[in-house]
This record gives sequence, structure tokens and C-alpha cells, in this order.
Amino acid sequence: MVSLGKNRKDHEKLMEAEVFAINVLGEKHLEVGRHFGLTNGENVNNFDGIDCIELETGSPILKDAAGSLDCKIVKTIDAGDHVIFIGEVLDVVNRDGDGLVFKTENFP
Ligand SMILES: Cc1cc2nc3c(=O)[nH]c(=O)nc-3n(C[C@H](O)[C@H](O)[C@H](O)COP(=O)(O)O)c2cc1C
Repeated sequence: MVSLGKNRKDHEKLMEAEVFAINVLGEKHLEVGRHFGLTNGENVNNFDGIDCIELETGSPILKDAAGSLDCKIVKTIDAGDHVIFIGEVLDVVNRDGDGLVFKTENFP
């Protein structure tokens, strides 16, 4: 499941998509998390300079994420200022290493 704000620049793209991918960030990925979590703007391509590989569905995933899930969108739920996308997992990539733990102070 992912929940995307309607004012996010990729909201329309996800509404039209059939699949989405989720990356589980690893311990070393704080900067990647900040890059995707704190940068915004219509003309920003967040994937510029990020090492990705493509799964069978075409979903891009981080080359060295701790894990990734490729999902087919099976349901969308309007939740006010967000839309919740429910995915059926099609593919799982599992790599060694611990996941990044979220700490508020890391995302000022
Ligand atoms: C740790 C973290 C998690 C976030 N998770 C979400 C989320 O689940 N859904 C969402 O819509 N925004 C989330 N955000 C906020 C967006 O990443 C942020 O507003 C971003 O700047 C949006 O930029 P864009 O509209 O250019 O894509 C998160 C931010 C951080 C720092």
C-alpha cells in the first residue's frame, strides 16, 4: 500500500499507472531518502543521478535497495488530500543488510 498526496507532482501519473514499486531503503541510504523525501518541483526528475534497474513490469527500483516490491495496482481509495493505492505483489527483491530506521530529526 502507498498513500500519495494529490498535490505531489507524480499523482496523475500514478492514477494512470498499472504498477508501482516500493524500495526498502538500507542503512546507507539516508541521503537517498532525503533526496526523494525533501526535494520537490514540477521540473525535478528525482531519478536523475540515481542508480536504478528495471523490473519485468518496467518499474524502476534502486540498484542497491535493502529490498524492493513490484506491485500491480488492484484498488485505489480516495482519502481526502491523499489517494491510497493497494498493490498485489508481483515480484520481490531481497538483498542483505539492515533497513534504514526513520528518525524525525533526519528529515528536517
Ligand atoms: C520520510 C518521508 C516520507 C514521506 N512519505 C510520503 C508519502 O508516503 N506520501 C506522500 O505523498 N508524500 C510523502 N512524503 C512527502 C514528499 O516526499 C514530499 O512532499 C516531496 O517533496 C514531494 O515532492 P514532489 O511533489 O515533487 O514529488 C514523505 C516525505 C518524507 C521525508
